[in-house]
Amino acid sequence: MPDEEVTTGAPETESDEPNGTGSGSDLMEKVVGLCKRRGFIFQSAEIYGGFRSTYDYGPLGVNLLRNVKNAWWEAMVQRRDDVVGLDAAVLSPPAVWQASGHLSNFTDPLVDCRKCHQRWRQDKIDGVCPNCGSTGFTEARAFNLMFKTHAGPLEDEGAVAYLRPETAQGMFTNFVNVLQTTRKKPPFGIAQVGKSFRNEITPQNFVFRTREFEQMEMEYFVPPADAQHWFEYWLAERFNWYLGLGIPEDKIRLRHHDADELSHYSAGTADVEFLFPWGWDELEGIANRTDFDLSAHAAASGEKLDYFDPTTNERYTPYVIEPAAGATRTMMAFLLAAFDEDEVGGEARTVLRLHPKLAPYQVAVLPLSKKDTLEPLARQVLHSLQPHFMCDYDVTQGIGKRYRRQDEVGTPWCVTVDFESLEDGGVTVRDRDTTAQVRVPIDGLVAELQRRVSAA
Ligand code: GAP
Repeated sequence: MPDEEVTTGAPETESDEPNGTGSGSDLMEKVVGLCKRRGFIFQSAEIYGGFRSTYDYGPLGVNLLRNVKNAWWEAMVQRRDDVVGLDAAVLSPPAVWQASGHLSNFTDPLVDCRKCHQRWRQDKIDGVCPNCGSTGFTEARAFNLMFKTHAGPLEDEGAVAYLRPETAQGMFTNFVNVLQTTRKKPPFGIAQVGKSFRNEITPQNFVFRTREFEQMEMEYFVPPADAQHWFEYWLAERFNWYLGLGIPEDKIRLRHHDADELSHYSAGTADVEFLFPWGWDELEGIANRTDFDLSAHAAASGEKLDYFDPTTNERYTPYVIEPAAGATRTMMAFLLAAFDEDEVGGEARTVLRLHPKLAPYQVAVLPLSKKDTLEPLARQVLHSLQPHFMCDYDVTQGIGKRYRRQDEVGTPWCVTVDFESLEDGGVTVRDRDTTAQVRVPIDGLVAELQRRVSAA
């Protein structure tokens, strides 16, 4: 497209007939390829051959991941008066994990194949070695998933520390601190977003299961008699959060755990599951943790971790309802759900139909021509948008190519500054999904884009 000659907007023939994205490994391959090519996710330490299923989030990935976490924080903390935030330490002493049960229970059963000596998770292989087909294995050994390290210069037993395998325990160990400093009373919650670490035996499926990942967890403390009510309340809230951010209804479901699947602390758990390319799999667990954690920490620490209700003169240990989601895993689900391929103007395009709140850039400002005459106004438009939106600015190549590049990373709106803008004080706003273009006055641009984000 000869962009230098075009003076108004950016012509583009429209013919949005989605032709599907393929499925299964095909989709997975395309999304993984896009993540690398466009700077969402890189293999960690790639120049050294990569490091054991760890990943780095690139310029676009860090925006998307941050937006996922912000959307969660907005729904779980900002818009509520019964939930407060916390950011607890990642390093913690063995006492925490002794009391929580993780030192004894947070294990996977490991077996070695007697023939090819590969090591497997016993519960994942149905008695047959996936490598050589042998059925001879060593006795299963419990393998603890926590990363162990030493705090301080001595590497002796007294210096042992663990990287947290879940953010949840920080909320339990700070229960009284938060209660006293915020004057909250049950039902109330403590929310946290942060890194967790598990020495997974079988990390797999890109960032679905990794050894270092981010969680978004909330512990909601309730009177024991109300636990079932709040469990059901949070199932609905959390399910609707994914729908509201664009996960299609046929790609998400709730699945209640059978009794033999429950974690050591749980009296009831349901998973929010997403239809990944390999089948239904967990995005988030919502559990009724009862008073397991507070009681265990109270017993182990000797501190009182309960609540005195002055209206009934009753002292009780609250039950906990916990919605526990993975931020990195959820980001991957949003990418998979958003990936689409269609045709525009007879040409194939790749488009990420991400919700505007999640898209790495909400707006791209594109001066139609590289000529010096348009740059000052285009930069002025950019600077007026930057306090409100994450923006990209792109002057390289023809306008059609630049639209494609923005479509591919999910930018919902492109703002084109053209020669007419110099005359009429307007710009063209082009919509990612419909490719429709409308003229908007520059002084109403922020309001118009804010209206569109709110309406999404
Ligand atoms: N506090 C409860 C808890 O941690 P979980 O089901 O083990 O529960 C919660 O983890 C969420 O954390 C999972 O639903 C998943 O989204 C995410 N998650 C867990 N292990 C993960 C891993 N190895 N890699 C990426 N995400 C993980």
